[in-house]
Amino acid sequence: MTYWFTEPALKMLVPLACATAIRGLSTPFSVPKIFMGSNAFSEAHGLGADVVDAFGAMCAKKQAFIVTDEHARRYSTRVSNILQGRQFTTQIWDKIEPEAPLEIVRECAESMKQFEPDVIVAVGGGSVIDAAKAAWILYERPDITDLEMVSPLTPLGLRKKAILVAVPTTSGTGSDCTGISVVTDTQARRKVPIVSAELMPDFAVLDPAFVTGMPPKLTAGTGLDALTHAMDNVMSPMTNDFTDALALRAIQMIFKYLPRAYRDGTDHEARIRMHMASSMAGIAFGNGGVGLTHSLGHSLGKTFAIHHGIAVSIFIPYTLQFYSPITDKYLDMCQALEVGDKSKEKSLAGLIKKVRALLEELDVPLNLKGLGISKEEFEKNIDKLVLYGFEDPSVFTNPRPLTMEQCEQLFRYAYEGKDVDF
Ligand SMILES: [Fe+2]
Repeated sequence: MTYWFTEPALKMLVPLACATAIRGLSTPFSVPKIFMGSNAFSEAHGLGADVVDAFGAMCAKKQAFIVTDEHARRYSTRVSNILQGRQFTTQIWDKIEPEAPLEIVRECAESMKQFEPDVIVAVGGGSVIDAAKAAWILYERPDITDLEMVSPLTPLGLRKKAILVAVPTTSGTGSDCTGISVVTDTQARRKVPIVSAELMPDFAVLDPAFVTGMPPKLTAGTGLDALTHAMDNVMSPMTNDFTDALALRAIQMIFKYLPRAYRDGTDHEARIRMHMASSMAGIAFGNGGVGLTHSLGHSLGKTFAIHHGIAVSIFIPYTLQFYSPITDKYLDMCQALEVGDKSKEKSLAGLIKKVRALLEELDVPLNLKGLGISKEEFEKNIDKLVLYGFEDPSVFTNPRPLTMEQCEQLFRYAYEGKDVDF
């Protein structure tokens, strides 16, 4: 199977488009219109225009297709009832599966084509929102049959039929605030990122009432995904002052509120702060990229069926050490977290210690061995791990050029829990 990110011409062009000199000429910064707060999506009509008024004004037919999964079905019913009370006709499609398999995306798009919505409302975690984005492409562009070849340079011409509203029910992926959809090629057991500025939702609704039911393990996994987006984004060569402001603030919020939300899911303040931090990190990485945490984490997660947030966050310390000979941007995070020291080396060590302490507090192992992957299984899969990690498009926004040998070394060091010294 060929993917857009393995095409030689695009492998050359994308890093060039990310170069500081090119971005210095003209850099777009994209966000959806965000409605946030305890009453962001509610039956009660408050003062002024609410989110339903805002997107309703853009929908002549008032046909809402609600994409969801079995876990978020109860929230979707609530959204559907609210919309029906405001003159919308709705249809709930609740068959999305974890990791958004391509065949499910196609099935979802077929139902969209029959219903002909002018608004798609994605209610769920990252897999649901990502699947809704990918199905939206197929609904708007029936001529596109190979989603895996949709590159950031492919003009899509979306929004001729429908707009997209994202209502996240987890606090981590940030998909509600990015132009990225990660789907799964199940046959190849491989993640396929679809990246397009056009995929940015028109509206994001951040209502903590939609996340209060998250169990502790999911709270930790999704929250660590948000932390990884923010920390890796700070180190990306594509950042700017806008992304830095959001990423650094999100990092502070996650260190403060994630342990609280993990320990007590009913901690309302922790829930709403985590919900906002997730979207802030999403805006930062959607505009400025993530790096090796996600290249290596995508490969690890798909190969050994490990939750995305755990698979990426486990690599934070190793990638920070790998980046450090090239950039000292980690000092911004040291300052934000008040772990700076006299030397750069000591500051980095303080930052890594802080990350490891958070992982331990959330009962996440510090190395791949601790995930229960046997040495035998690891060695059996090492070639695939390295190839998929090396080819993953997040490599494009990694600050330090990576060789295949270094990619393998990173996996091996992370397996044993060794400090990176190369
Ligand atoms: Fe992620």
